[in-house]
Amino acid sequence: MVSRVIPVEPFDLVIFGATGDLARRKILPGLFRRFIAGQMPPEARIIGAARARHDDAEYRRIVREAIAEFASEDVRRSDGISAFLERVHYLPIDATGEAGWKELAAMIRPGLVHAFYFSVAPGLFGALAERLHQFAIADERSRIVVEKPFGRSLETARELNATLARHFRESQIYRIDHYLGKETVQNLMAVRFANILFEPLWNAQFVDHIQITVAETVGVGGRGEYYDKAGAMRDMVQNHLMQLLCLIAMEPPSRFNPDSVRDEKLKVIRALEPVQAHHIVRGQYVGGAQGPSYRDDVGNPKSRTESFIALKCQISNWRWAGTPFYLRTGKKLRARISEIAVVFKDAPHAIFGQDTGRHRNILSIRLQPNEGITLGVTIKEPGPGGMRLIDVPLDMTFADALGDEVEDIPEAYERLVMDVIRGDQTLFMRGDEVEAAWAWTDPIIEGWEAMGDVPKPYDVGSAGPEDAMMLMHRDGRRWREIR
Ligand code: BG6
Repeated sequence: MVSRVIPVEPFDLVIFGATGDLARRKILPGLFRRFIAGQMPPEARIIGAARARHDDAEYRRIVREAIAEFASEDVRRSDGISAFLERVHYLPIDATGEAGWKELAAMIRPGLVHAFYFSVAPGLFGALAERLHQFAIADERSRIVVEKPFGRSLETARELNATLARHFRESQIYRIDHYLGKETVQNLMAVRFANILFEPLWNAQFVDHIQITVAETVGVGGRGEYYDKAGAMRDMVQNHLMQLLCLIAMEPPSRFNPDSVRDEKLKVIRALEPVQAHHIVRGQYVGGAQGPSYRDDVGNPKSRTESFIALKCQISNWRWAGTPFYLRTGKKLRARISEIAVVFKDAPHAIFGQDTGRHRNILSIRLQPNEGITLGVTIKEPGPGGMRLIDVPLDMTFADALGDEVEDIPEAYERLVMDVIRGDQTLFMRGDEVEAAWAWTDPIIEGWEAMGDVPKPYDVGSAGPEDAMMLMHRDGRRWREIR
C-alpha cells in the first residue's frame, strides 16, 4: 500500500526555544521526516530562534546532529538532509528584550502561513505573544503553538489563557497534547465512530469498567526540578490520560470538525465527579539493585511528589453512570505500555457452565508499543472432548495488518505541526477544556496536600505500589498486566 501524502501550503515556521530539548528531540526530527515524506513544499522555511548567538551555519550543524541523534533509523539513512537544511535558518532573539525582533519581522514573508512555536518556559509565552504584535510580525492568519505544562492549577491556566487571548483569537492558538497526535488515539475515534459494531455496546449497560494505563520504564531523567514540582498527576493525568478518557467516553460528535469534537470532550470533563481520597493511590519508586530512588533522581531527600498514581473516577451522565474508569500511570515500571482496555460485562447467562466474573470480552487499544487493537473473545477449544472454552485474541496489530505503511505513520509531533500549518485544531486542546481539566484536578491535589499524604513506595521494575492492586481488588476487578 502506498500512503498518500498531501503537501501543505508554503509556510514560515518560527521555533522559539530552537536549541532546546524538545526542538532537538522531537520537532526538528519530525519536520525532517515530513520533508522526506514530500509533505513540505519547496518554499517552506523553518526559522530557529533562541537567545544563543548562532548563525545559520552553526544552527544547521545543531539540527544535523539532532537528527543524527534522535531521528529513527530509516530517517537517518535518508540523503535528503542537505536539501532540508537549506530551508533552516537561525536568528538570535531576546524574548523579553528588543534584540532580534526587527530582523525577524524582515524575514517573515507576507502572504504565507505563519506559525510560531513557543517551545519555551510558559513564563515567556506572554512576552513572545506581545512582541509578535508589537513588531507587527503576527497577523490574522498567524498561529501560535504552545506546549505543556499549560499552567499548574486552574488559576495559572486561566492567567495563561488570558495572556494569550490579549493578542490571539482562540482559533489561532494550538495547545499541544502530543498524546492526541498518536496514531492509535485517532484510530480510537475511527473505530468508535466509523463502525456500527461497538457503539451500541459502548455504555454502562454492557461495559463493566474501563482501564487506562500509561506505564513508563524511564525515570525523571534530567527533568527532576520540573517533575518534582509537578508529579504524575499534573505531568500525565491532567492532560494525557484525561484526553484519552475524553476520547473513549465522549458522545459521537455530529461532525468531525474541531469544535464539534472538542465540545463533546469538554462535556466529559465537566461530567467527571470529584474523586474520593480512598480512590487515589500515589506512589514513589524506591532505590535498590535496579537503580536509584526517585528522591535520589530529583535530589530531594524529603520529596513527597508522586511518580505513580492510580485512581478511580466516575462520569455522571446517562451513558456512563455506574461504570468506573480506572486510570494509572507511573515511571520506572516493569514495561513501557500505554493501553486503554474496555472491559465488557459477562454474557448474561452461562449456558456452558462457564465461570462468571472473568470478563472475556476486552477491547484493548494499544497506543505503544506495537500499536494495535485486540478484542478478547471466547471460543470452543478445538478438538473432541466436549464443549471446553478458551479465550483467544482477535488481534489487529497495525504492523501486521498494514505492512510497510506502518513505517510511514507520522509520529505525534510531526503530525501535529503539519496540522498547525493546515489550520486544523481538532487534535489540540481548547482553552476551556484545559481549564475544566484543572478544575477537576485541583481539588484532588489540594485534598492530598491537606492530608499530608505520603506516597506509597514501590520497587523500580514493578507494577506500582501494592495499594494500587487493592484499589481494584476491593471492587472485585484487576488491572491488566504491565508486560
Ligand atoms: C510528557 C511527560 O508529556 O510525556 C513525560 O512530561 C512523559 O514525563 C512523556 O515521559 C511520555 O510521552 P510518550 O510519548 O513517550 O508516551
